[in-house]
Amino acid sequence: MLLSTWATLLFSVAASSAIATRRNFESHDYFALHLDALVSPHAVAQSIGAHLEGPIGQLPDHYTFSAPKERGSAVENALYELRKRRRKRGIQSGSGILWYEKQRLRPRLAKRIPPPPAPRQGPPPPGRPQPDPIAVEALDDIARTLEIQDPIFKDQWHIFNTIQLGHDLNVTGVWLQGITGNGSITSVIDDGLDMYSHDLKDNYFAAGSYDYNDPGPEPRPRLFDDKHGTRCAGEIAAVRNNACGVGMAYDGKVSGIRILSKVISDEDEAAAINYGYQDNQIYSCSWGPPDDGRTMDAPSTLIQRAMVNGVQHGRGGLGSVFVFAAGNGAAAGDNCNFDGYTNSIYSITVGAIDREGNHPYYSEPCSAQLVVTYSSGGSDAIHTTDVGTNKCYIGHGGTSAAGPLVAGTVALALGLRPDLSWRDLQYLCIDAAIPVHLDDGDWQDTKNGKKFSHVYGYGKIDAWRLIEAAKTFESVKPQAWYNSPWLSVQRDIPQGDRGLASSFDVTQEMLTKANLERLEHVTVTMNVNHTRRGDLSVEMRSPHGLISHLSTSRRNDAAQAGYVDWTFMSVVHWGESGAGTWTVIVKDTELNEEKGRFIDWRLNLWGECIDEAKQTLHPYPDEHDDDHETTTGSVATTSVAVGTPPTDVPAIPTDHIDRPVNAKPTPSSSNGTPGLSSTSASAADSSPTASSAPSDSLLPSFFPTFGVSKRTQIWIYGAVALIILFCIGLGAYFFIQRRKRIRNNPRDDYEFEILDTQEDNGGVDGHASGKKAKRRAGELYDAFAGESDDELFSSDGEEETYRDIPDSERGRGEKRAGRMESSGDTGHGP
Ligand SMILES: *[C@@H]1O[C@H](CO)[C@@H](O)[C@H](O)[C@H]1NC(C)=O
Ligand SMILES: *[C@@H]1O[C@H](CO)[C@@H](O)[C@H](O)[C@H]1NC(C)=O
Ligand SMILES: *[C@@H]1O[C@H](CO)[C@@H](O)[C@H](O)[C@H]1NC(C)=O
Repeated sequence: MLLSTWATLLFSVAASSAIATRRNFESHDYFALHLDALVSPHAVAQSIGAHLEGPIGQLPDHYTFSAPKERGSAVENALYELRKRRRKRGIQSGSGILWYEKQRLRPRLAKRIPPPPAPRQGPPPPGRPQPDPIAVEALDDIARTLEIQDPIFKDQWHIFNTIQLGHDLNVTGVWLQGITGNGSITSVIDDGLDMYSHDLKDNYFAAGSYDYNDPGPEPRPRLFDDKHGTRCAGEIAAVRNNACGVGMAYDGKVSGIRILSKVISDEDEAAAINYGYQDNQIYSCSWGPPDDGRTMDAPSTLIQRAMVNGVQHGRGGLGSVFVFAAGNGAAAGDNCNFDGYTNSIYSITVGAIDREGNHPYYSEPCSAQLVVTYSSGGSDAIHTTDVGTNKCYIGHGGTSAAGPLVAGTVALALGLRPDLSWRDLQYLCIDAAIPVHLDDGDWQDTKNGKKFSHVYGYGKIDAWRLIEAAKTFESVKPQAWYNSPWLSVQRDIPQGDRGLASSFDVTQEMLTKANLERLEHVTVTMNVNHTRRGDLSVEMRSPHGLISHLSTSRRNDAAQAGYVDWTFMSVVHWGESGAGTWTVIVKDTELNEEKGRFIDWRLNLWGECIDEAKQTLHPYPDEHDDDHETTTGSVATTSVAVGTPPTDVPAIPTDHIDRPVNAKPTPSSSNGTPGLSSTSASAADSSPTASSAPSDSLLPSFFPTFGVSKRTQIWIYGAVALIILFCIGLGAYFFIQRRKRIRNNPRDDYEFEILDTQEDNGGVDGHASGKKAKRRAGELYDAFAGESDDELFSSDGEEETYRDIPDSERGRGEKRAGRMESSGDTGHGP
């Protein structure tokens, strides 16, 4: 104990002097471990035969251990054995290792510079429209009043558009109230930040800056194309002076964290996104896995943990605000739900519209996209600062340029209301969004009184509205969550427009038990087997009949992989109660020899809690949560059925009883044991369900004992038996009712297969009674109708990739890995 405290102290001293890690992945293997706080990392090093390198970023009790390559597999085996033993015996196994992950170097993350525009089709655009004289005069007035003399200020149409009136961020009215970002600090995680640029240096925040690529305190751009981060920083906080233009929060501070110029380890990336997280309030991230329409990639568990750490402990517990660019792969058929950063519930995901208010060819749709804002496309791009003492850039674009404008807007809000939490700011973004192009984008009326489109999110952000709302916004209560059990489907997916539907009923009781009052994000983790991933698509219907297109088919994605424990996210259901039937429909629209099977899924509801006093922080994500070793076979629930009456199925903990530590809440305690916090997550192991002694079991061991006496077990199983009997009867009734309802439901617009009620509750799976109910009605619902890439763009679009390095998934589809140049590149600009 003393030793560990001492070691931690020593390391934090060491860490502050040499933050970025020097690792040699050619000669060594590296392991990230999460240790019990009471365990000495040195003792652990000894027990697994590895060298202790040091702590990982700001993650409490996380350390890196190393071993020479030739001994790496021995260490891995030791860790594996400890985990196995631990699972069997719970925390008493004594190793003190709560979690581990072998570390890898990631392929370089791609900047979200747009690919060159698809060749214009149709008639050439008319001559450039002229500025509106009254608007020009108004802008002159504003510049005079605010003493803005920056030479390109009047070209910064995203701030004040004198040609397409109203197509801007509507921020000048905010500035005129004296709200200019003073007090805010935004960090641009990118390829560097030119802190010597005249347009940035007065707002540069050195203490929040770091270079992880060439370790050192200054994130100075070094490579010839390290310009992206500086341009993004200019959009956020370019100084009001005589250089170039101004940022959205021109009296705010901006820091730079450089990670995109070389490959980076998970460890460094995890440290980077928590760097200076008590000072840096917002992290603006205009990058991600390649947007080529075939990559499906998420941050490693370690990085996900750093994000959770950021929202839970950054800014003194109010939470780091992560803003991610949605991605530029729309022309290649990509969708931001295939990117584990943009589909994180912790991210404000931002897509683009152009200065005419249209959807640009590159901006990716998805159900996780929160808002859009202005960027390149149509006749112009974003005008901002560039690398160099007094250099400007007129061609900044892509969703890369959209994200920072929202980050800058959030900075204005935090300058005024530093007490707002990361979730408050998501609410405010939704509140301040204005739907655009109601004629296109398949808008749905959402339960929170807004409109949502997969193409435009909740609409375009309006800075004035956001600030007005922020002035009086009452912080929402802490976050609660409900996780359904794993729902086994195990059925082949029919091809064509039909789909395979699986439903789960959430009762009010489950939500109350989970302390969950109303929804914000919804995530679905699923396993689908398929020989061609791109053929698949998934939609989800909520109890209120709202539809999330969780995934869309992708013509470029030929991976023989399906979805493996992939989590999709939706913000469509914000404001719904969550109670009722949730249906997930997996489709395989391509009629070909490529086939698949829907294996299982799990519904996760996130939102505001009922009782603040009872609410705990969510445990760290744990990759072993998704480990199906413990679920298959025991998952045969009655829940995969349309028409099951609301029963207390999830009260039967059919699975995950023998979960490793940090388990997400099991169905029996969907909201985690009160008192269980992320830092004392090991308590999960000693919870009654996890540590029930075998000798107490009334029934054969595959029946859970709930850790209670035989008498209580008799009572429980007796009750369960009664419920089952009751359900069979009621189920039959509801099934008939439901069939009627579905027939009458106008939203039910195509045929799908409905899994019949599986009455067996005892763990037998497979031969479901398999009655099929096929329906046909109305026309096919398609959120992207009229936006088909094939229709709108020539096939050239799909050949362009960005700055990504080729990855192993690229097969025959690869044509040329066009490296996008960022100098004057995109053919934008006048
Ligand atoms: C834009 O800001 C002005 C105040 O400067 C406000 O009156 C107007 O309503 C805002 N526009 C929208 C669409 O909210
Ligand atoms: C920002 O706020 C600080 C303290 O509240 C104040 O001293 C400073 O003058 C302000 N700066 C600007 C540019 O308004
Ligand atoms: C998934 O597909 C692979 C081959 O494509 C097969 O080996 C495996 O058994 C399948 N898994 C399930 C659960 O169907």
